[in-house]
Amino acid sequence: MEQKKPTMNELRESFLKFFEEKGHLALDSFSLVPKDDKSLLLINSGMAPLKPYFTGARVPPRKRVTTCQKCIRTLDIDNVGKTSRHATFFEMLGNFSFGDYFKKEIIPWAWEYMTQVLGLPKDRLYATIYEDDDEAFEIWATMTDIGEDRIFRLGKKDNFWEIGVGPCGPCSEIHYDYGNAGVLTTREEFEAASEADKTVEVWNLVFTQFDRDEEGNYTPLANPNIDTGMGLERLATIMQGVRSIFETDAIRAIMTRAEELTGVSYGTDAKSDVSLRIITDHIKSAAMLISDGVLPSNEGRGYILRRLLRRAARHGRVLGRQEAFLAQMLDAVAENYGQPYPAIVEKLEYIKKIVSLEEEKFNQTIDQGTLVLNDYIQQTEGDVFSGDYAFKLYDTFGFPLELTEEIVAERGLKLDYDKFHANMKNQKETARAARGQSNFMGQDANIINTLKTGTTFEFTGYEEESSKGSLLLLAGEDGEVETLEQGESGYVLLDRSPFYAEMGGQVGDLGEIRGENFTLNVLDTKKNLFGETVNLVEVTDGTAVTGPVVSTIAKPYRDAIRKNHTATHLLHKALKQVLGDHVNQSGSLVDSHRLRFDFNHFTPMTREEIRNVEDLVMEMILKASRVRTDVMTLDEAREAGAMALFDAKYGEAVRVVSAGQDSKELCGGTHVANTGEIGLFKIISETGIASGIRRIEAVTGLNALHFVRNQEDVLEEAAQIMKTNPHELVRRARQLTAELKDKDREIADIKKTMASGSLQDILNNISEVNGIKVVTGVVDNMSGEDLRNLAEKALDKIVSGVSVMASRQEDKVSFCVMVSKDLAGKTAHAGKLIGQIAQVADGKGGGRPDMAQAGGKSPEKAQEAVNKIFELL
Ligand code: ALA
Repeated sequence: MEQKKPTMNELRESFLKFFEEKGHLALDSFSLVPKDDKSLLLINSGMAPLKPYFTGARVPPRKRVTTCQKCIRTLDIDNVGKTSRHATFFEMLGNFSFGDYFKKEIIPWAWEYMTQVLGLPKDRLYATIYEDDDEAFEIWATMTDIGEDRIFRLGKKDNFWEIGVGPCGPCSEIHYDYGNAGVLTTREEFEAASEADKTVEVWNLVFTQFDRDEEGNYTPLANPNIDTGMGLERLATIMQGVRSIFETDAIRAIMTRAEELTGVSYGTDAKSDVSLRIITDHIKSAAMLISDGVLPSNEGRGYILRRLLRRAARHGRVLGRQEAFLAQMLDAVAENYGQPYPAIVEKLEYIKKIVSLEEEKFNQTIDQGTLVLNDYIQQTEGDVFSGDYAFKLYDTFGFPLELTEEIVAERGLKLDYDKFHANMKNQKETARAARGQSNFMGQDANIINTLKTGTTFEFTGYEEESSKGSLLLLAGEDGEVETLEQGESGYVLLDRSPFYAEMGGQVGDLGEIRGENFTLNVLDTKKNLFGETVNLVEVTDGTAVTGPVVSTIAKPYRDAIRKNHTATHLLHKALKQVLGDHVNQSGSLVDSHRLRFDFNHFTPMTREEIRNVEDLVMEMILKASRVRTDVMTLDEAREAGAMALFDAKYGEAVRVVSAGQDSKELCGGTHVANTGEIGLFKIISETGIASGIRRIEAVTGLNALHFVRNQEDVLEEAAQIMKTNPHELVRRARQLTAELKDKDREIADIKKTMASGSLQDILNNISEVNGIKVVTGVVDNMSGEDLRNLAEKALDKIVSGVSVMASRQEDKVSFCVMVSKDLAGKTAHAGKLIGQIAQVADGKGGGRPDMAQAGGKSPEKAQEAVNKIFELL
């Protein structure tokens, strides 16, 4: 074995180089975000982004390809941290043959790589094969020197690789003995050693030779393929002589940063080791996801990212770190993963920002959740904390169950897990029902994804608006049909047409397909999972059958789309100029009415920034620059300075759309020939759609003119209502507002005069009972203080006696009783009187001998209550 231990970077390079020398094209890792594949949330193996090459839906750039692919798997997330080998992020080294070489080549190559390039001792290696695969056995036994006794035949569970329907086949795995497995001679011994983690699977060679259908039939593929996968981290443990992936060079370096930031050393306590491993793994996954354009959210990929960040943040707290710290981990990720994945370095500041925002938000959640939890604890009687509460905290407040457990335990309470899990189960079932069925190659069991002609579709729509072609296949809602009758809707597949299939944010084309004896109205155009273009149609005339047709796009519709699409590129460019280079597209929608552009930026745009962007786009339009498209390699495109989006297809010829010197972008969409055609560009809204993500909506061409005219109409109408013209509208509005203010003042004055009039009446409402002067009154909506003042004023007026006042409000009444000093506590006691008065209006109260206030619930009994005084005295 080599003296110096190879680093992860070196291992990655060594693998790719080995296969390049065997005629493979080395491609960069594809984005973690699958492209045109709704069956997967995230790329989880080397072959996942290559599916279209395996099925034949797309032509690979070369028949031999090798990659080191970023992968994320979260199925086992609960084990991450607890073991030395589970991780959410991992890299899969792989080599692929698309109908080129097969078993005879890959088995000897794999052996050569393991024993000669890596120099692994042969007596530490084992091979497994599928039990019926005599061919693989022969090749291992005769074309390598592994020795027959080190080849084990295993069953379908271990040595047949398939996920749902699609390409699959038997496989052969290479296993490594860490050194204490002893000599394994039987299949049973081998399985036991593997179970006990004494040996580990390193490399899986899949002989993809079948296509499995929904019924479970295996049809041999015309061209068998090879798909292999070797976990880089696992290989690194072997080559670096460690047992844990967390002790391999790059991962250990990230964990060191976690130790520094939390002040907790690895290897001192089993529980804190779990937290350190979780932080290390999750921050790396999060950085990779963000660099591939994923943002935290409550669903799909965004939710996975959010969970990873929140778990990492929480384990920071477990280690005693209360303040946000995750963003500070990212330099270590960039230092160790920047070489294979330069986007991590290029977007470092952006990634930090997203991570900080999310962590701060999480910290708030924790603080808020803690308050709610304390409240629930207070409400708890007995020693069991309700599982409903725990679920509510978890579900509504995003408060982690583990925290609830911990805090509840500290207060000596037991958690009702049964109830909590019953809630969880219920919710999962609801979610599952909502998600529906999905399978490997197929997204939803959607009819268009079952349609396949097997021919390569030729899209003519960059150059032509009308093209001749053949209608190859018709389908109704239940699948393929021979004919579609007038009035029926269905799907058709052609071999060539100018119809653009919905992609890259641009909606699908509309138009018309004419056959010899029929006409179809095209209502939408989409690409299915086989990469074939499907038109949704309605038969407007005749009976549709296969055969020659002429297809024509709806030109005004397409023209409006072209304008919006090119304008989207100009907008992208202008945003970078006005807001900064960090601005990148995170989504877009281009249809015939408007364009929608989502991008990352942290604050709402100011009015001035919006205007500046509009000005810049208009300048580019007014230059009337030629828009050209060039097909080149991705590297050439990068060199030319093209803005490449996250999902650029590596290794393939790319299409670069340039608008004069102003904008250069990778794009498959349809565009105007000259920026001048856009005519007018107007932003109609700028809003936030997620943290750090803004959305602009804009219109172009005639739509922009219509927008401006609508604004004019609004002005015109407002002016008419205000009896002026649009130019005078502002002055008129100011004037009216000033007049309104004057009127308000007048009304207030009038109210006051009227009120004092009625108060005057009250003050004069004096009677005498048993020689005691009494003044009473009932008013409306007077504050407690005003009521007291009124009572006092009334008492002043009679000098000696009792004053009783009530103020009615919508659903209550307040009272004030005052007794003059000479009588207070002797002849009359305010506190006692008021109790009996308030009682009449369903209230109670008491107070001092000279002054008391009280309330009642029945304002309608106010007068009756006040009158009670005459009885009482
Ligand atoms: N696709 C195979 C795997 O994921 C190589 O194991």
